[in-house]
Amino acid sequence: MFPHHTQIAEYFNSYVDRFNFRQNIRFHCMVTNASPLDGGGWEITLQDGSTHRYRALLVANGHHWDPRCPEPPFPGHFNGDVIHSHYYKVPDPYVDKRVLVLGFGNSAMDIAVETSRVSTMTYLAVRRGFHILPKYILGKPLDQPVLPAWLPYAWQLKIIGMALRLQVGKLTDYGLPAPDHKALHAHPTVSSDILPRITHGRVKIKPNIRELAGDEVIFVDGTREKIDSIIYCTGYKVTFPFFKPEVIEAKNNELPLFLRVFHPRYRDLFFIGLLQPLGAIMPLAEFQSIWVSKYLLGEYALPAEKELLHAIQHEREAVRKRYGNSPRHTMQVDFPPYVKSLFTEMERGSKRPASPPLIQCSVEAVTADT
Ligand SMILES: NC(=O)c1ccc[n+]([C@@H]2O[C@H](COP(=O)([O-])OP(=O)(O)OC[C@H]3O[C@@H](n4cnc5c(N)ncnc54)[C@H](OP(=O)(O)O)[C@@H]3O)[C@@H](O)[C@H]2O)c1
Repeated sequence: MFPHHTQIAEYFNSYVDRFNFRQNIRFHCMVTNASPLDGGGWEITLQDGSTHRYRALLVANGHHWDPRCPEPPFPGHFNGDVIHSHYYKVPDPYVDKRVLVLGFGNSAMDIAVETSRVSTMTYLAVRRGFHILPKYILGKPLDQPVLPAWLPYAWQLKIIGMALRLQVGKLTDYGLPAPDHKALHAHPTVSSDILPRITHGRVKIKPNIRELAGDEVIFVDGTREKIDSIIYCTGYKVTFPFFKPEVIEAKNNELPLFLRVFHPRYRDLFFIGLLQPLGAIMPLAEFQSIWVSKYLLGEYALPAEKELLHAIQHEREAVRKRYGNSPRHTMQVDFPPYVKSLFTEMERGSKRPASPPLIQCSVEAVTADT
């Protein structure tokens, strides 16, 4: 099932209560700076100007909050209103409007479907072809295993690719460009609704925007349409406003990490949930946290520097080979293989010579919490 956002909020709240750490959270408290200290540890500056020192820093500020608009901007001037999908809430402002949605990710799909129910016309501008996956395969939500676990993951991908071709057919028959990659070699665009909206004539497909021309938009194929509102569904930048660029910077959304958690330079800095799974992120964030807590308690030791750097390089090359050089795909992981590698690494690291714990805490407390 796909839970409602209120259920997700309820889950987070009950998680905090279950593990009894609400008193450790400071709400409405922005971190404005995080600087590494000589000899280890971090100094954190809060919005009120106060500074605090910590032995280790876990960063979990998310990577879908800093909108990425088309860069460079499209030439020309547009008379209508323009927003990024980050600010889209409801379709009401688009009643009887001619709406242009740009992008081919999940935001573009959901927003084009919603506005198409109220708009005069919704245009969907896409700059390249993607596979569109239905929300359910064989009656199960897409991220639930439909094939036996003993099948190698590469085979599972192939079989799912074939099932998609049978279920969805050729996307070019819907007026969409042909995908320029194999199924699941891009972050999946999932929608069971967009294709019927196209075939019902409520969403019209266009290529990328070439130019803004007052009340009109001109597309790269030379066609032009009168448009009232543009919604850029062009994704997000990975940014850390509390780090100075010389401390941490993710240029083009690149931040190579050991299994998407450990930073090669700072051994007391960890990233939680900074990954793009084919599947749900919350269980992965929880497993990552267990891994970090074992490290902090001295129950897990990292591999030697050379091995660690090699693993980071290998992971980055594998992602680049499968997904190409796109800022959208710098931190992709497949859910089951990623979980397997986390637990394998935890096991390996528990057998390496132990390093002294970074923090003091009773093992029982962590075990009970996890
Ligand atoms: N229902 C859901 O579960 C749901 C709904 C919304 C979002 N999400 C999730 O939220 C995350 C963000 O999704 P998103 O759709 O907002 O962003 P996204 O996945 O990054 O997709 C951005 C889209 O915009 C295109 N694009 C970027 N710059 C462009 C430009 N200058 N001109 C034309 N096209 C451009 C990209 O094409 P290229 O690939 O060619 O760069 C891509 O098709 C994803 O993890 C997504 O799964 C989930």
